[in-house]
Amino acid sequence: MKKYYVTTPIYYVNDIPHIGHSCTTLVADVLARYHRQLGEEVFFLTGTDEHGQKVAEEAEKAGVAPIEFCDKITPRFKKAWEELNISFDYFIRTTDDRHKKIVQELLQKIYDQGDIYKDKYEGLYCVGCEKFLTESDLVNEKCPLHPAEKTIKQSEENWFFKLSKYVPRLIDLIENEKTNYIFPKGKRSEVLAKLKAGVRDTSISRANVEWGIPVPWDKTQTVYVWVDALINYYSATRFLKNKKDFWPADLHILGKEILWFHTVIWQAMLLSVGISLPEKTYIHSFYIIDGQKMSKSLGNVISPGRLVEKFGVDGARYLVTSSFPTENDADIGISRFVEKYNADLANNLGNLVSRLAKLAEKNKVEIEKSKSVFYPEVKKALEDSDTGRALSFIWTEKLNRLNAKLNKEKPWTLSPEKAKPVLKECIEKLLEAVFNIKPFMPETAEKIKKVFEGKIKTTKVLFPKIEN
Ligand code: MSP
Repeated sequence: MKKYYVTTPIYYVNDIPHIGHSCTTLVADVLARYHRQLGEEVFFLTGTDEHGQKVAEEAEKAGVAPIEFCDKITPRFKKAWEELNISFDYFIRTTDDRHKKIVQELLQKIYDQGDIYKDKYEGLYCVGCEKFLTESDLVNEKCPLHPAEKTIKQSEENWFFKLSKYVPRLIDLIENEKTNYIFPKGKRSEVLAKLKAGVRDTSISRANVEWGIPVPWDKTQTVYVWVDALINYYSATRFLKNKKDFWPADLHILGKEILWFHTVIWQAMLLSVGISLPEKTYIHSFYIIDGQKMSKSLGNVISPGRLVEKFGVDGARYLVTSSFPTENDADIGISRFVEKYNADLANNLGNLVSRLAKLAEKNKVEIEKSKSVFYPEVKKALEDSDTGRALSFIWTEKLNRLNAKLNKEKPWTLSPEKAKPVLKECIEKLLEAVFNIKPFMPETAEKIKKVFEGKIKTTKVLFPKIEN
């Protein structure tokens, strides 16, 4: 059986889940469900990133030990994913002892083969990003992603990984062997250009951060949180015994701010120990809320719970996956979501289902089993992780046409003999579309199937209209 292994970033527990995390997780969920519908064996991994300075500082502010803090926040991520009907197979936490052990083993291997050395590092550290910045990263002397926070000058002795040694190999892989490994293409060029401009070795440990995994050969240092976190993708397939064969991952999906860690540092670490590289990394852009960056201080953060409350689970799933920011940032907002919900779900799909159900019941139409195939356009779009394109194809090319066909043929004006074949054809086409919609809106797809398969019975309104 074909296997499919998809991962999301593991989210920092200093924050609670918001729509940004939700879009990555939801797209991964759609892909996992799509591959299950294709009959493949799927492993879908998500989780939380719990070590490091940032989490330690938040815990201190809250006046609790870091692990207590993590134990409190992690369930919120699990709850958010349950609310959004995310079908993850495993939720990993980096504080899990089994993960820690594998991190230490892997680092020890890199060390043993001479790819790690001690050096002094001096630089500006952004706790928000959990990384050292260079002068050229700064905008107005601040980290562009965390302008409200100070960057801290730090100088310490750290363990360094010989990243530069792997740069020629990485360039060759990206250009010649694994030309599909960074997606979309624009991001691939960005990484290549940076690699060719020259890359310095990278620090993989911290001297003054206690909240982390001890470096196996030097207990005075902890493993740098990013190195610990990246290994989660691999460690889960080692300590979960029945997941061994899922490595290498088929897809890592993540936001653009963490592109370098995933497409360069992670891959070089794997090269160093001779573990196969992930098949593909998909990098998406960001959500912007009503033209502004989403941030706690601006108070414009949208939570998954709020979306589900307002639009229902599948409504929320549809709105997020249809506006998924691929190559460019996507400007979203609740009032635009309301408009889209009313147009696409209440008026288009919802109305189509109720019109067809009423007419079919009246004319005693019967439908046998429906066709279960994905449209080639949907397949292609999902191979590109472009959920928005897949949905827009289903709506414009399929559902709109069905609505137009009904309006033109007006089966409600026809005799039962003439109405029946028209309705039958429309319902069969609708059910085919519903099979394609199922990875996005699993509950809705089941409800619609129940309405039409076997004896047709009308149902209550699927998507009640919402006032803006
Ligand atoms: N812990 C690291 C990831 C380690 S993975 C080995 C981290 N965590 S995070 O909590 O900050 O999550 C970052 C991810 O959240 C992004 O890569 C993206 O998937 C998602 N998003 C956060 N804000 C977002 C938007 N405004 N828009 C879209 N996605 C965003 O980085």
